[in-house]
This record gives sequence, structure tokens and C-alpha cells, in this order.
Amino acid sequence: MESMTTVWGEVDNQPVYLYTLRSGSLTAVISNFGATVVTLNVPDQTGKVVDVVLGYDTLKQYEQNNRAYFGGTIGRCANRISNSQFTLDGSVYHLTTNEWPNSLHSGLSGFHMRVWETVSFTNENELTLRLESPAMDQGFPGNLEITASFKVTDNGMTITYSGTSDATTIFNPTNHSYFNLNGHKAGSVVDHLLRLQANYYTPVENARSLTTGEICNVLYTPMDFTRPKTIGSEMTPSFRQLLYTDGYDHNFCITKYNGDVTEAAQLTGDQTGIRLTLKTNEPGLHLYTGNYLNDDIGKGGEHYYKYAGVSLQPQFYPDAINHPNYISPILHKGETKAFETQYLFDCVS
Ligand code: BGC
Repeated sequence: MESMTTVWGEVDNQPVYLYTLRSGSLTAVISNFGATVVTLNVPDQTGKVVDVVLGYDTLKQYEQNNRAYFGGTIGRCANRISNSQFTLDGSVYHLTTNEWPNSLHSGLSGFHMRVWETVSFTNENELTLRLESPAMDQGFPGNLEITASFKVTDNGMTITYSGTSDATTIFNPTNHSYFNLNGHKAGSVVDHLLRLQANYYTPVENARSLTTGEICNVLYTPMDFTRPKTIGSEMTPSFRQLLYTDGYDHNFCITKYNGDVTEAAQLTGDQTGIRLTLKTNEPGLHLYTGNYLNDDIGKGGEHYYKYAGVSLQPQFYPDAINHPNYISPILHKGETKAFETQYLFDCVS
């Protein structure tokens, strides 16, 4: 049998591996560089295996591209923080700015660019990675210890993040996979069918994509995915929100959020019939349609253009730390918080 662990290379003298997790006909390849989902092979209606996530072939490409976040684990705080600063317990903290004047996905040294330690790899289907993020790492207070566990079953993959800190801080992790359920080489996702369990979304103020702090109803707008529709059907720049971001790049508020795992989204590939049901216990779901992909060279030399994949990121609302009306992303001193995302697959005809 093929080895389930292969050496992929080295970063800063630390070994980087590819782990193959398998159950039934589902396979995920995960790297400890960035706790990254590199491959996710899912069978289509005919039993043919399709790789449904965008990514690169080589470790070098992941190391050199700090912009697309293909499959990476984002932390400590996903999404934008305004003016790269926040106040916690009366102290002001400054983050690195990577999208002036704001901080996106925790700045230049995100968790997707770190070599994670392998804690365990068991039963060929369960992998746990750990990262220690020291106090003031990226500008955040508290020594944070985070684990990311990946478990593959016959019908999907579950990622669980667990975080604990010795000082009050922010903990808002997510995974930044881009899905193309017709296969990563299939081109645009605009004909994928999408349903979101979200009656509200958080608008952005301009092309910098920072949230206004409002929570708006999706009703009678292109943001309404409460009934399934194709991603492209109302993706028009005549709706100002979509003009700003050149496609969807917005957070949706999960209607049934109560801290338990609940369905957030259902996405179906129009050519393969592969359907993804995403469940999470985080309060928001960021929908990003790959608007800024621009001839990125991906796996197998594939050219990924605008809308080549759709990223569905469970997380707290953007810039929640600076908006008291948004659910708080704070992790208190000594507390342990766990967030779970289930990616469940089946096929529809
Ligand atoms: C953000 C986009 C950003 C992209 C980078 C997404 O999570 O919402 O605005 O351009 O990441 O690939």
C-alpha cells in the first residue's frame, strides 16, 4: 500500500509532510505547512474521483504565495481588522498591516505560513496538528496554543480547531479552501448551485471590503441565497455591494447560530452532481468567489482565473472585535474554545 506520509520538503529547517487521510472512496491530503488542505478527492455520480479544491503542486508555491490562502488554516483572526488595531481590556494592540490600512487574515505571518507540529496521525483517517503562537505574535496578546484536527469519514471531512490562551485574546480560525465541485480544473463556479442558511449579511463600505458594522436583510437583493440559485445568477455590478468586491466577498450571518453545529451552506457542482453540505458552530460564513484570482498557476499547471473556486469560510463576523453589535471573537484567559466545520459530500442527479 502507498505510504500515507510523505516528506514534502523543509521550511526553516523544519520538515514538512503530506499526510493522506482516507475513508471509503474519500481522500484528503493535508500538509503540516499551514495545516493546509492540499487535495480533497470525492467520487462523482459515476464513481469517478474528482479533486474538488484548488491548490498548488509544490511546497515552494505555497511558501511564495501569501495572497490566495489556498486551503490554509487562517489565524489567529480570519478576515479584516480595521486600521490593524483593536482594544482589549483597556490596552490597544497593533497588528501588521497587509491591506493598508487594515489587517487581513492576521497580517503577513498568518498561521497558513507556519510549520505546524504533528501530534498524531491515526487509523489512516485522523490527523492532529499543533501550533504554539507566543504572546504578541502578529500583535495579539496571550500565548495561544491551537490544534487543528482533520478527520475523514466515508462521507466527508471534519476539521476541529481548539484554542487556549494564558491571557485574554482573539481566537477566530477558519479554513480557506476554494471549492470547485466540478473539479479544480473545471473553470468557473458561477453555475454551481448555492443555498445559504442566512437571512442577513454584513455589507462592506467600499472596495477595501471592510465591513460597515451593519447587519442587513438579504431580502430582495442578490445576497439572498435562502433558496438555491446559481452563484452567477444575480452577481451583477449594478448592486453596489458586488461592484465594490467584483463578485461575492461578504460575510453571511448564520440564521440558526446558537453555538452548536448547524448547516450553513449547500453547494452543488452542476457538471458532477457533487453536493457539499457545510455545517459549523461558528456564527458567520464568509462567501468569497475567487474574485481576485488572476491566472494563478495551480495543481497540474492549471491556470486559475477569476471565479475558478468558491471559498466558504466559517468564522466570526469581520472586524467583530471593533463592533460590539457583532458576536464577540474573544477567547478569555484560561478558557478553551473548540470550533468545528463539517464538509459533507453526496451526489445529486
Ligand atoms: C478575502 C478576500 C481576499 C482573499 C484573498 C478572502 O478571504 O475575503 O477579500 O482577497 O481572501 O485570497
